[in-house]
Amino acid sequence: MKDAAPQPVYLSDYTPPAYLVDEVHLTFRLAPEATRVLSKIRFRPNPDAQSREFFLHGEALRLIRATIDGAEISPDITPEGLRAQVPDAPFTFEAEVEINPAANTALEGLYMSNGMYCTQCEAEGFRKITYYPDRPDVMSVFSVRIEGDAPVLLSNGDAVAQGDGFAEWHDPWPKPAYLFALVAGDLVNHPDRFTTRSGRDVELNIWVRPGDEGKCAFGMEALKKSMKWDEEVYGREYDLDIFNIVAVDDFNMGAMENKGLNIFNSSCVLSTPKTSTDANFERIEAIIAHEYFHNWTGNRITCRDWFQLCLKEGLTVYRDSEFTSDMRSAPVKRISDVIDLRARQFREDNGPLAHPVRPASFVEINNFYTATVYEKGAELIGMLKRLVGDEAYKKALNLYFERHDGQACTIEDWLAVFEEVTGRDLVQFKLWYEEAGTPRLKVRDEFKDGTYTLHFEQQTPATPGQDTKHPRVIPIALGLLGVNGDEVQETRLLEMTQAAQSFSFNGLASRPIPSILRDFSAPVILERDTSNAERAFLLAHDTDPFNKWEAGRALARDGIIAMIREGAAPDPAYLDAVQTMARDETLDPAFRALALGLPSEDDLAQTLFDMGSTPDPQAIWEALEQLRNARAKHIEAVARELNKAHQVTAPYRPDAEQSGARALSNAALAMISRLDGGALAARQFESADNMTQQLAAWSCLLQAGAGETATQAFYDQWQEDRLVVDKWFSLQIVHASPEETAEAASRLANHADFNIRNPNRFRATFGAMVMSPAGFHHASGKGYRLLADWLIRLDPLNPQTTARMCSAFETWRRYDDARQTLIKAELDRILATPGLSRDTTEMVTRIRG
Ligand code: PHE
Ligand code: ZN
Repeated sequence: MKDAAPQPVYLSDYTPPAYLVDEVHLTFRLAPEATRVLSKIRFRPNPDAQSREFFLHGEALRLIRATIDGAEISPDITPEGLRAQVPDAPFTFEAEVEINPAANTALEGLYMSNGMYCTQCEAEGFRKITYYPDRPDVMSVFSVRIEGDAPVLLSNGDAVAQGDGFAEWHDPWPKPAYLFALVAGDLVNHPDRFTTRSGRDVELNIWVRPGDEGKCAFGMEALKKSMKWDEEVYGREYDLDIFNIVAVDDFNMGAMENKGLNIFNSSCVLSTPKTSTDANFERIEAIIAHEYFHNWTGNRITCRDWFQLCLKEGLTVYRDSEFTSDMRSAPVKRISDVIDLRARQFREDNGPLAHPVRPASFVEINNFYTATVYEKGAELIGMLKRLVGDEAYKKALNLYFERHDGQACTIEDWLAVFEEVTGRDLVQFKLWYEEAGTPRLKVRDEFKDGTYTLHFEQQTPATPGQDTKHPRVIPIALGLLGVNGDEVQETRLLEMTQAAQSFSFNGLASRPIPSILRDFSAPVILERDTSNAERAFLLAHDTDPFNKWEAGRALARDGIIAMIREGAAPDPAYLDAVQTMARDETLDPAFRALALGLPSEDDLAQTLFDMGSTPDPQAIWEALEQLRNARAKHIEAVARELNKAHQVTAPYRPDAEQSGARALSNAALAMISRLDGGALAARQFESADNMTQQLAAWSCLLQAGAGETATQAFYDQWQEDRLVVDKWFSLQIVHASPEETAEAASRLANHADFNIRNPNRFRATFGAMVMSPAGFHHASGKGYRLLADWLIRLDPLNPQTTARMCSAFETWRRYDDARQTLIKAELDRILATPGLSRDTTEMVTRIRG
C-alpha cells in the first residue's frame, strides 16, 4: 500500500491542550541498544480545553507497561502515539518504554555519538524518548534520574544527588519537552564561574571529549561576555546555579538551548588559533551568545505552537547580532548580515520555498528552521525598533518579560506589548509576519526650485499560496549629500505605508545625492536607475557605512552584468573606485575587505533572472574570474602595499581588529596570487602559525592551480582533527574548476574519512559542491545527479539533514530548459524513492511546485 500523502497542520486549527502537566519524573536506564525510560507524569484537565481526549505523542517506542493512578491500562497505540480513557480529575500516568539510541541515526530524540549519549528534542524529538504531550504550550517541572555506567551524567537544572552509576537532576523552571536534555558519557570539563548582578554564583562548564579540553577557553569567555551583556543591555540574569554546555560531533544543526544544558555541534564551540579561523571564532562567539540569550527569549518565555517559532528565533538572532555589534564592529556586522540575508533569505523568498516569517501551515516543522524564520524574523525586530525608537523598544521588552514570564506566547502577544507601550497600531506591521516575499521598492527622484522629492512605489511579487500582497510599512532611513560630499540632510526615518508615496525636502541649494535605505533599514530590494558616477560618489562620500559598501557592490554588480550580457570589458569606473577605497587608510580594514568582495554567483544569477535573462552559471563564473584577474592587474601595487602593511605581528588574537587586518591582507594576497602563480601564498602557507593564515594561503594556492603539495601537507598535519578535516574536504571542492566540481565531491565522498552519518562531513562535501554554482549546475547534469544520489542514500539515515540540503534545487526555475529538465528528473527520482521521509517528501514536493 502506498503511504498516504503527509497532511499539513494549520495555525488556524490551534486548540489548547486537553490536559496540563504539573510535574514529570523520568528515570533513564541507559544501554546503547535498549534504554529503558520510566515516566511518571502528573496530569490535570485543562479548564480552557475544548476536548477531553487524552492523547500522548510517541514514536518508535516499545511500550513495556502503562498505568493510570497505579492501575495497569492497555492503551490504544498508533505510529504517532497513545490514547487512553482517563479520569475527569487530576491523575498520575506512568509508563515504561524501551528505545534504541544506538540505532538512532536521525539524531533526534536520544542517540549516540562517539559512545556518548545525547538528546535533541526540538522541535518534536521528545516523543521519540517517551509518551508525552510533546507540544510547547505544555510546560512542566522535570525531575530526572539517570542510571548508567558513564562517568558524567547530565540533565537540565540543578544536580540534586549523585552516586556510583547514577545522578539526579531537578529543573525548577517549568519548560516544554523540547527543552529537555540528557547527556551521558566519558567527558571532561573546562570549568569557570560567573557571579550575576544580584550575586548568584553560577558554576559554568564546557563538557568535551577527552583531548578537546584545550579547545574551550574562547567559548567560555564568550559565555561570560554574553551573560554580562544580557544583564547590562536587557536586564536579564541567569536563573540557575549551574550552566552546562556540551560539545557533540554528530548534530544536525548549530546548537540547542536546552534549559541549563546547551548542546552544541562541536564545530560551533571548540576552537584554537591553530585549528580555527577568525570567522570560526566570530561564529562561535555569536552562537554561544544566541543559545545563552534563549534562556529568556525562548525558555522563560516560549512559543505557544511551532507556527510562532520566529517569536523566539527572530528575537534571539536579533539579540545575538546586537551583541556581536557591541563586541566587534557594528557596521561590519551589519554588512555581513545583509550579505547573508540576501544570499539565503532573499533566495528563499524568491523561490518555491517562500513562506511567511510566521507560516500558516506546515507538514514537517523541521523544514521551517529557515533563513526566513531566523534572519528575516530578526530583520522584523530591527524594523520595529527603528519605527518605535530605542526607548520604546526597551520599555516594550521589559513589559514583554514581565507580563509573559513562564508563558507560551504568540506573535500577537509580542506585538501587543509594543502597541501598549507606544499607542501605535501594528496591524499593518503584522503583514511582515503573515505575507511572504521580498518587497521591491522602486524610487525616482525630482528636483525643482530648491525642492527635492523622492517618489517611492512598493510591490511584492506573488509567492506560493499567496497571490495578492498588501502594502507594508517600510521604514526608509534616508540621508542627503551635497555635491561636495557634505551631508545636507542627516539620516532621518521616512515611514512608507502606501503602495506609492512621495517625500519632499525643501530649501536645498542644489540637487542632492540621496543615500536611501541606510543601514539597510528594511529587508527590501531597492530598485533605482543610478549612474556609475553617483555610485562612485557614494562609495567615496557616504557617511553611512552600509550604503557606502552598497554603492561599491552595486557598481561591481552592474559592471559584471554588462560583462555577462553585453560582453563588456571590466568597468574602469569600478576599478578606479575600488582602488581609491582600498587604499583609504581612514577606513576600517575589515570594511575594506568586505568592499573588495564581489557579488556571489548565485546573487548574480538571481539578478539576471529578475532582469528577464536566463542566467548561465558558467558565463557568470567566467565573468567573475575575468573581473578578478583584471582587478588584480589594475591594483597590483595597492594589493602588495596592503598585504604588507596589514600583516599582524602581535601574538594571535581572534578579535575584530586583528581579524580585520588579516581579512584585508588576505584579500590582497588573493589578488597577488592571480599574478605570481601563488609564490607569496606558498611562503605564507609555510610560515603560518594560525588557521586563518594557513587556510587563506592554501585557498590562494588552490585558486592558482598550485595547491597539490599544500593539499597533502595540510592533510598530513591535520588528519587527526575532525573539524579541520571538514575544512580540508570543503576547500578542495570549492576551489575545483566548474568542470571538476562534481568529480572532486565524488572523490572525497569515497575518501576513507568520509562518513555519511556525520552531518558536518556530509555538508563539508555536498554543501561545498552546491556552493559552487558553476560546478553544481554543470550543463551535463552530473552535479545534480551526484547530489540526488547522495540525498537518496542519506534520507533513510537522516531525514532532517537530507531535507535541508534539498534546497540546493530551489532555484531551478531560473535556469534554461535543458537544466530545468535535468533538475526535474532528479527531483522526481528522489520523490519516487520508496519509503522517502516526510521531511524530504515535503521539501521536494514544494520545490517541484
Ligand atoms: N533552537 C536552535 C537554535 O536556534 C536550533 C535547533 C533547532 C537546533 C532544531 C536543533 C534542532 O538555537
Ligand atoms: Zn535559536
